[in-house]
Amino acid sequence: MRLGVLTGGGDCPGLNAVIRAVVRREVKDFGGEVFGFYDGWRGVVENRGEWLSVLRLRGTLPRGGTILGTSRDNPYMHDDGPAQAKAAIADRGLDALIVIGGDGTLSCADRISDDGIAKVIGVPKTIDNDIAGTERTFGFDTAVSIATEAIDRLHTTAESHDRIMVVEVMGRHVGHIAAWAGLAGGATMTLIPEEPFDIAEVCDALTSRHRSGKFASIVVVAEGATPAPGTIDMPEPQFDQYGHQKLGGIAHVVAGEIGVRTGYETRVTILGHTQRGGTPTAFDRVLCSRFGVAAVDLAHDKKFGHMVALRAGEIEAVDLQDAIGKPKYVSPTLWNTAQVFFP
Ligand code: F6P
Repeated sequence: MRLGVLTGGGDCPGLNAVIRAVVRREVKDFGGEVFGFYDGWRGVVENRGEWLSVLRLRGTLPRGGTILGTSRDNPYMHDDGPAQAKAAIADRGLDALIVIGGDGTLSCADRISDDGIAKVIGVPKTIDNDIAGTERTFGFDTAVSIATEAIDRLHTTAESHDRIMVVEVMGRHVGHIAAWAGLAGGATMTLIPEEPFDIAEVCDALTSRHRSGKFASIVVVAEGATPAPGTIDMPEPQFDQYGHQKLGGIAHVVAGEIGVRTGYETRVTILGHTQRGGTPTAFDRVLCSRFGVAAVDLAHDKKFGHMVALRAGEIEAVDLQDAIGKPKYVSPTLWNTAQVFFP
């Protein structure tokens, strides 16, 4: 087959590992060809990219980022975008597109498929782990490892100074990274988007912990965590050119309130894009390799309009329609377990 591949949306550890697996499977095992479009959907509209060889992907398994580049652009943002994308796919003689991305990129893939522009196979990417239909997106394990290591390091400095450290992790609509890193790092409290927080309750919990003689605390807050209505006045939201709310900074609000309400000394650490950079963990490298191989196999089985997914340890195909447009939230059972460790 002649396959196209693209990486869209925010970057994520493991993108190169998926591209490498796609190329290995198609070129080496099926004798086909793979064309990599640059900069996500933008490269499809502009017909920019390169034919990928096994040699080109050598050494990329542990490398963060994406050798193809990425963007949040999509063909439907431009008047002639869909027609240009269709022309590019015909020009390259592609049988199908393997689309590696999060909800925005995969929703676009679904529309591209519906409009008959290309046959598509999806691969679920995002450190947030918020895509339905799969137990894991790749990149999540790496982000949790980075956040956990940071929390471990913050524990010792927090204890030396009897401070409260507020650590902000990514997690736009869901708190998977916060919940997992909070549990793994032994955080005192974790705040996630799914559960609007009451700052008075957070401060009461910290105060009761201090009264029992434990002074240092780590509070993990997901960037998308929100105060319960009527508790804290939040600044006006800001949006980027794609309509994405610019997040980042809730930790300053939380730490400020804790400082004023309890009198304890607080410090803020915002992990930000460090969670998305650098080498993927062994788990993510294996997941990406499995996803990439399975995506090519789905194309050969003509299971277009599907996404590869991890379910009960196996790689399966799920209908793209069942994966997009509905974030996968932190499960109540995991959240109940996390709460066992709160004061
Ligand atoms: O969607 C993944 C993610 O890492 C979110 O957690 C975060 O809010 C967003 O991307 C930030 O994207 P950027 O700053 O690259 O636009």
